[in-house]
Amino acid sequence: MDAPQRVLSSEYMEWAKTRAQARFNLASSGILPYPTRELDVTLEDIELTGPSFYGYEPLQRALAAKCGVSVDSVVAAVGTSLANHLAMAALVGPGDEIVMERPTYEPLLALARYLGAEVKQFERRSEAAFPIVSEDVSRRVTARTRLIVISNLHNPSGALTGERTLAELGEVARAVGARILVDEVYLEMVWERGARSAFHLGSEFVVTGSLTKAYGLGGLRCGWILAEPALARRMWRLGDLFAVIPAHAAERLSVVALRRLERIAGRARDLLQRNRALLVPFLDSRDDLQVVRPEFGTVVFPRWRGGNADRLCLLLREKYETTVVPGRFFGMPDHLRIGIGGETDEVKAGLERLAAALDDPAVT
Ligand SMILES: Cc1ncc(COP(=O)(O)O)c(C=O)c1O
Repeated sequence: MDAPQRVLSSEYMEWAKTRAQARFNLASSGILPYPTRELDVTLEDIELTGPSFYGYEPLQRALAAKCGVSVDSVVAAVGTSLANHLAMAALVGPGDEIVMERPTYEPLLALARYLGAEVKQFERRSEAAFPIVSEDVSRRVTARTRLIVISNLHNPSGALTGERTLAELGEVARAVGARILVDEVYLEMVWERGARSAFHLGSEFVVTGSLTKAYGLGGLRCGWILAEPALARRMWRLGDLFAVIPAHAAERLSVVALRRLERIAGRARDLLQRNRALLVPFLDSRDDLQVVRPEFGTVVFPRWRGGNADRLCLLLREKYETTVVPGRFFGMPDHLRIGIGGETDEVKAGLERLAAALDDPAVT
């Protein structure tokens, strides 16, 4: 049998960088950018060079305090993106098995295939609100499984996985000596309930996150991995083969942002509350969109009863200047992902335009 082709790119990322921008952008899954001026920074805060070797100590301490873990469990990384890369590359090699959710954030799948892993996917079912059923995971796990990969909140559906299910996954992984990578970049948005990181459930859990999505601070590229200390050390050493040293000014700004995180989160919370108040009546008014509404986060992932959503997304972009993410990037072409983390006026107009496109005879 031929070896599977090594993946060397992400189709979704290319689309996101070249075709997701629009006057009314409902394709983004993050909160709109936090204004730099509101960080109240001084020139000293953006010192270009500093003592950052295996971590910049003030940032390490700030992240450890934020996550409620010891400093030696924190590996700083350039966004959740590089955090995922480091975590996966430290844990799997060519021929190892990864068990991954479907639908999934496509770069995670591309990354696993880039690393030469054999990927088996388990379904999170749309009609049941995208739950993780641990028996479905355990059925796919074998002695060769090194890693189980999930996101929490789930991208694209926004579904929250609770601790009981996570603990069950922990047992599944432990039974074969595998680990679980939980991408928690959206868990930061569960402010109301203060959801606890899966890291606290046992040493088989490795989690990744960043300040990107929930706080509108993607430009800082402040990401992290939480892993038990010996594994964290391995990841730091592996990082010497990638970015080696981060942009120090960004590390310093990240420390400033972490100090003000409560205020930054408050702005995001208020924005989402306003935008959710627009999303609910929109969804109520659409019989052609089948969706179970998540309690948290910025995204919903409805199924369009009209079939393949590509033509809807194209019409929406070209005629209505509005973007959503076509479900095909998540392996579910009859779905679309709608993001509501933008400016309220833009979200309002975007939803109106989405309604107009859905009603347009050109798509029916
Ligand atoms: C599940 C998931 N992980 C990671 C990322 C990238 O996050 P970051 O900007 O922190 O690299 C995204 C972005 O869409 C995402 O959806």
